[in-house]
Amino acid sequence: MHPLALPAFRNEPVLELRRPAERSRLDAALATLDARLPLRVPVWIGEERRDGEELVSTDPAEPGRVVAVAAVATPGEVDAAVAAAREALPAWAATPVHDRALALTRAAAHLRSRRHELAALAVRECGKPWREADADVCEAIDFLEYYARGAVELDRGPALLQVPGERNAMRYAPRGVTAVIAPWNFPLAIPLGMTAAALATGNTAVLKPAEQSPGCALELVRALREGGVPAGAVALTPGAGETGAALAAHRDVATIAFTGSGAVGLELIRTAGSPPDGARHLTRVVAEMGGKNCVIVDADADLDDAVPAIVSSAFDYAGQKCSAASRVLVHLAIADALLDRLGGAVGILELGPAERWSTDVPPVIEREAAERIERYAALAAREGAVVAEIPPPEGDGWYVPARVVTDLPPGSAVLHEEIFGPLLAIERVESVEEACDRVDELPFALTGGLFSRNPRVVDEVVRRSPVGNLYVNRAITGAMVGRQPFGGNRLSGTGTKAGGPDYLLHFVEPRVVTENTVRHGLVV
Ligand SMILES: NC(=O)c1ccc[n+]([C@@H]2O[C@H](COP(=O)([O-])OP(=O)(O)OC[C@H]3O[C@@H](n4cnc5c(N)ncnc54)[C@H](O)[C@@H]3O)[C@@H](O)[C@H]2O)c1
Repeated sequence: MHPLALPAFRNEPVLELRRPAERSRLDAALATLDARLPLRVPVWIGEERRDGEELVSTDPAEPGRVVAVAAVATPGEVDAAVAAAREALPAWAATPVHDRALALTRAAAHLRSRRHELAALAVRECGKPWREADADVCEAIDFLEYYARGAVELDRGPALLQVPGERNAMRYAPRGVTAVIAPWNFPLAIPLGMTAAALATGNTAVLKPAEQSPGCALELVRALREGGVPAGAVALTPGAGETGAALAAHRDVATIAFTGSGAVGLELIRTAGSPPDGARHLTRVVAEMGGKNCVIVDADADLDDAVPAIVSSAFDYAGQKCSAASRVLVHLAIADALLDRLGGAVGILELGPAERWSTDVPPVIEREAAERIERYAALAAREGAVVAEIPPPEGDGWYVPARVVTDLPPGSAVLHEEIFGPLLAIERVESVEEACDRVDELPFALTGGLFSRNPRVVDEVVRRSPVGNLYVNRAITGAMVGRQPFGGNRLSGTGTKAGGPDYLLHFVEPRVVTENTVRHGLVV
């Protein structure tokens, strides 16, 4: 093995949460974190840190508890962050790819050594139950390890046809400064994944995390710098939408790596599509956006498989995963049985704070989200029938009941818009073909599911399904780096696949050199 070669990629194993000792370690990490709150998150550009209190992130289960107070990057600081990233670019781009890869794997080791603390932080700041918080840490580590190896592979360049007298080489060069604009629902994995992809390929990055999760973002930038990424190569500019907009519109940003809602993603694509006069490059947008994810259940489906998988896909993390199930299209022949069993399974879900081990459905992220989901629930109750509704616990957390609704008219907004909460709609269909037609009507195409025991039906749904990630006879969430490259089509995204073999290509530009190797004498 080459001394610089990295061992083959493997997914970071999740913690064995059924073990009391592991649970105790996590409980202790949370108690230690609580004693340190609130965290202070600076604008962090190179070696300069400016603390501030303009932004406050709170515990969704107990909004009075402040988790982090952050400075908000001013327009001047956004400029300074991009300028610093630009200045750091030549040296980082010229750093041998193995050294960049090693910096990322050292950052992964740093996260690994602090995984209990980091999971506790995701529990507190984003209301992520332990199992999902731990998976978020693992995915963050996976992105670092996977893109480190991917960048080394990419650096070799593809093989080209060679003919006598000519040498052809194709290489991938970094594009430049990358603006990373991230959501809160995977507060570790998603911002780090996008940042790691940019850095692995020799770009520099400015990270604008979600306003709901600045505390998690600080830990990521710290890990990258601990790993050996130069201070200038990665900056942290906390803030809300305006900060993201200022960063994305900056003329020296070459790539925008965005994950979040469709509305914001489209705005960024428009921004990038109107280069200012005198622009020296076209800004590329890597955008991963929302979905309206449907699960098709055929008449021969095994409900012992389908029911728990649907419940977990719809209600884990209160339905706040972009991949979460929000519609079930079930064959008439089995619809009553499915509704009955889903009602029973949802009826025993426990709503509670993320830190409680027995919690199935945590609160949603913030007041605005709870109000939005309640608006859709009221509409569903008016237009259709609510077949299950699990009331939230007492307390002032942002709890929303887990609900199953049915009998909605085909044009209902509940069936067509992303709700991003614990509300699942069930529709009866006469055939799988009809279900495919309804899926095909949607402008979204992120994830989808099918429960069927007939291989011909599976083949047909695979052929017709427009989604980026289709899951057959299993839950539709939980994509693993390297195993299920993840990302949507249509209005759900630009078709890039995070955690897949092509992802890094979006962060580089191809350059081909052709050399005439027929020499005409020596120049001395
Ligand atoms: N496809 C995926 O891989 C994926 C993964 C996770 C989340 N999501 C989607 O993300 C959404 C939930 O996340 P969210 O609520 O944080 O999304 P959001 O779009 O509200 O915010 C995402 C980020 O964009 C920033 N932002 C907001 N307005 C902006 C503007 N005008 N210009 C630039 N930046 C701006 C926010 O501050 C935040 O950092 C859901 O729609 C979900 O489906 C998609």
